[in-house]
Amino acid sequence: MPNSSITEHNAAARLAGLLESAMDAIITVDEAQRIVMYNRAAERIFGWAFADVKDKPLDLLIPARFRPHHGEHVRRFGETGVTSRRMSGSTVVFGLRRGGEEFPVDASISQLDTPEGKLYTVILRDVTERVRAQEDLAAFAKQSSAVREQEKSRVARELHDELAQSLTAIKMDTIWLKDNLRAEPDAAAAKVQEMLRMIDGAVASTRRIAADLRPLVLDDLGLMPAIDWLVQNFRQRHGIECRLEADEDLELAEPYATAVFRIVQESLANVAKHAQARRVTVSVMPVERGLRLVVQDDGAGFDTGAARKPGSLGLAGLRERAQLLKGTVAVQSRPGQGTTVEAFIPVGEGEGA
Ligand SMILES: Nc1ncnc2c1ncn2[C@@H]1O[C@H](COP(=O)(O)OP(=O)(O)OP(=O)(O)O)[C@@H](O)[C@H]1O
Ligand SMILES: [Mg+2]
Repeated sequence: MPNSSITEHNAAARLAGLLESAMDAIITVDEAQRIVMYNRAAERIFGWAFADVKDKPLDLLIPARFRPHHGEHVRRFGETGVTSRRMSGSTVVFGLRRGGEEFPVDASISQLDTPEGKLYTVILRDVTERVRAQEDLAAFAKQSSAVREQEKSRVARELHDELAQSLTAIKMDTIWLKDNLRAEPDAAAAKVQEMLRMIDGAVASTRRIAADLRPLVLDDLGLMPAIDWLVQNFRQRHGIECRLEADEDLELAEPYATAVFRIVQESLANVAKHAQARRVTVSVMPVERGLRLVVQDDGAGFDTGAARKPGSLGLAGLRERAQLLKGTVAVQSRPGQGTTVEAFIPVGEGEGA
């Protein structure tokens, strides 16, 4: 290299700065898998200072049950001559903290041949949070699909018990009519009366079953009056002041209308159940390319960072509903500071009614 050692020195300093400011742990080991370099992020993640681990075996940072395997892996990687590779593939790799705690990591390894022998550099990231979020999501998906299944079998049972029963009875009466209409006109007239009564019943139960799927008030009133109805109901039932700010004329097609209705409904149910609020504001306003929906209370609030209670589906259900429509839900709350649920539902051209 024609360049002076000053440049080299600069480069080394710059490299050191880079290593120290990296968010990921960067660990270099020699051919015998002893630690020769270890950056600040590694200190933070593993809990050991560099001085503690310098020249120590890498095994110190690996849970005991993975050690035999891991050493073998690195040796084999050394033999491939490939310069870098992501570890783990589909299996999860674990690190070991100073205190003995194991944690999942995302890691990649690279190798470099130097005059002093091979150096291996591992770059890794603590993915505890990500893994936990994935587990949470999986648990929720399982739970909510169980709820959906329950819901489906309930609807199936009601269709069977109520509708199929009435239709079968009406069919039997129709057959009787076909055979006896001429011979027994008086009895036939009575039969028709009976059939009308059954048809009314079938219509009513169809409506009731469907109402559980799409709120009836939406059909009867339209979206904004239905929301107004929710708000008035909430006021009367719970005696809490509740103000509605809305664009009266807003009307949406499905599935948007039901989603908006359900989000307001669940948010108000939460206020009634958990908030002990004195004042609530519901706002449903069109914004650019969509709809902004806010339910704000001045009640007890809660810690949004705390783990979701098992069996609590309301807020998670809101998120799912909004996400299905490519929208978002943000819940802002702190103990003693009230709660704000804010949703954005994108409504494309022609999707509003
Ligand atoms: N407006 C609010 N004020 C205070 N705490 C709230 C409010 N909304 C939600 N929370 C808290 O968040 C938790 C989760 O709410 P979520 O709606 O998901 O479940 P839930 O209401 O407990 O049960 P579910 O809605 O499934 O019947 C609640 O248990 C409550 O502790
Ligand atoms: Mg709830």
